[in-house]
Amino acid sequence: MKAALISLGSKSSQWTAEAMRKYFSDVDEIDLRELEVNLGGKHAEILCAGKPFDLYDCIYLKGSFKYVQIISSIASVLKGKCYMPIDASAFTVGHDKLATHLIMQEHKIPMPPTYISSNPAAAKNILEKINYPIVMKFPQGTQGKGVMFADSFSSASSMLDALSALNQPVIIQQFVDTSGEDIRAIVVGNKVVASMMRKAIEGEKRANIHAGGIGCACTIDAHTKKIAIQTAEAIGAEICAVDILESVKGPVVIEANLSPGLQGITEATKVNVADKIAKYLYDQSKKFRDGTISVETNKIMDDLGLEKNDLSTKKIITNLNFKLNRIILPELITKITKFDDRMDVEISADKHSLIITKAQSLPSEKGNSKKK
Ligand SMILES: Nc1ncnc2c1ncn2[C@@H]1O[C@H](COP(=O)(O)OP(=O)(O)O)[C@@H](O)[C@H]1O
Ligand SMILES: [Mg+2]
Repeated sequence: MKAALISLGSKSSQWTAEAMRKYFSDVDEIDLRELEVNLGGKHAEILCAGKPFDLYDCIYLKGSFKYVQIISSIASVLKGKCYMPIDASAFTVGHDKLATHLIMQEHKIPMPPTYISSNPAAAKNILEKINYPIVMKFPQGTQGKGVMFADSFSSASSMLDALSALNQPVIIQQFVDTSGEDIRAIVVGNKVVASMMRKAIEGEKRANIHAGGIGCACTIDAHTKKIAIQTAEAIGAEICAVDILESVKGPVVIEANLSPGLQGITEATKVNVADKIAKYLYDQSKKFRDGTISVETNKIMDDLGLEKNDLSTKKIITNLNFKLNRIILPELITKITKFDDRMDVEISADKHSLIITKAQSLPSEKGNSKKK
């Protein structure tokens, strides 16, 4: 099976690609910056360094907020064509703390009290009613950059003035006192495969490794694990890191990270996280392929028009696309069935199945194609 890791080429991405080579027969490392997506033609097109993009069984997309538009475009165009662990929509959510908190709220995932306002005057009102200390965050910050602490109304207020001069939206959050510790849990599928406690260095409140934080392996209880897994599920990522603070009221999630660094967690926990990810990608890709017509077969069928001569029933496992509450079936289905819009069909449906059969209008028309 063929896989591609599309990323900015960080050390963690190189480790992941290397680990993937143990499972997949071919692994291409593709620089995200070489890709472009062309829309508006009959089919959306992805080009890599100006050439048509290959087909893969698995594509693992990683990148940073700066590249969220191209990443989500690629994920959206490739949806259903290969296995991808992260939904197109997850990229826009996961790279924006505000969107992440909104989704978490929807899924009832515990978080520190968090406030959003539309303008500096409204934000001042929040500052007046909140308990101190507080945290202010840029929605798109990472690695601890963009996280600011204020222990009084006056410092928060002057901070806010400076930020509004910069025209920067901010999230205001209740400070959770954990003595500078947080928990980072790596979710792969429906499991937490590694977790570490990070401790901020002396005089620092941010526990990020990039801010000097020191990580050490820790075991987390079933409840915390469940919250981490629920967060990943809520944002639509089968692989991600979830940052959690242990508050007096229990664990609260502060962030999900779609492209977590692997060095810190691997060193701290001695778990080969890259291998866990690679194996999961392989197993899921296999499931995707076994349930589907493989991408290669699909392409060969398309290229050779093989379905024209082959009326045997094909099974495809896929998601359904909906448009205004109507089901849009995959194009391959149209090709296999040879249905066209002038044809009369008989549709029988119940709660869990759908059979569309060509209506037998003429006695001579015996051949009927079926899809379920
Ligand atoms: N509400 C909070 N209370 C206490 N500490 C916090 C809070 N939010 C963030 N932190 C600290 O700041 C660090 C960075 O915050 P986080 O929201 O994860 O942003 P980033 O994307 O920069 O990692 C956290 O790891 C934690 O140590
Ligand atoms: Mg974080």
